[in-house]
Amino acid sequence: MGKSILKVNSLMSAYGQSTILWGTSLEVKKGTVTTVMGRNGVGKTTLLKTIMGLVPAVSGMVEYNGEDVTGLPAFKKSRMGIAYVPQGREIIPKLTVYENLKLGLEAVADKKARIPEEEIYAMFPILKDFRKRLGGNLSGGQQQQLAIARALTGRPSLLLLDEPTEGIQPSISQEIGIILKRLAREQGISVLLVEQKIDFARPVTDYFYFMNRGVVVSEGSSDEMSMEELQNHISL
Ligand SMILES: Nc1ncnc2c1ncn2[C@@H]1O[C@H](COP(=O)(O)OP(=O)(O)OP(=O)(O)O)[C@@H](O)[C@H]1O
Ligand SMILES: [Mg+2]
Repeated sequence: MGKSILKVNSLMSAYGQSTILWGTSLEVKKGTVTTVMGRNGVGKTTLLKTIMGLVPAVSGMVEYNGEDVTGLPAFKKSRMGIAYVPQGREIIPKLTVYENLKLGLEAVADKKARIPEEEIYAMFPILKDFRKRLGGNLSGGQQQQLAIARALTGRPSLLLLDEPTEGIQPSISQEIGIILKRLAREQGISVLLVEQKIDFARPVTDYFYFMNRGVVVSEGSSDEMSMEELQNHISL
């Protein structure tokens, strides 16, 4: 049993009168990939946003490295080492790849920090070749790689990733999967992944949580779960 980097306890959040998270609880162990699965609209994105502080928690607690960070704004959480790659990538199309990467550093407290270019380009060689290209001219898969790379420029401890393979061709999804595993195994970066594709998630994931209507309805470690079980959990 490793140590937790993130603990989410009975988290509730809402958009106005409309409650979305009804007491979600989960845990991310250090150096693992933990995946939240669930159908469209069950609250996966809302969960990540509430963890990040982009949507306020109504009640419950978010604990990061043993510290209660529930009420902290997103920029403080970034500085503490939590990085967030939103669904739909959100890179800046009119900036170059390099300029997009530089934006990642704005989350870092140290103003003299530099982009760890060698590390980033070792993981995403295509970004080196395309340094000067406009972000908007990259393919969807390349934009996703850029969004992940940008999140890594500040050397986070915890990476929150929302459906990185949405609308991306399988070969690039596979590359992204390999990178997530390496981040966790080799660099000890913990990953909280939101996914809907079992084929992608299975080999990458250490531990699964399944969500429905704003709560976790089941969970289990990846190697103890058959493909069939996974399918069943998702289709509930
Ligand atoms: N800004 C918002 N204001 C009001 N309701 C919202 C807002 N964002 C999301 N919702 C609603 O909250 C519910 C959960 O949405 P959320 O985006 O968290 O689901 P999701 O599990 O990420 O879905 P998907 O798999 O489609 O990305 C949905 O009913 C959605 O319509
Ligand atoms: Mg979503």
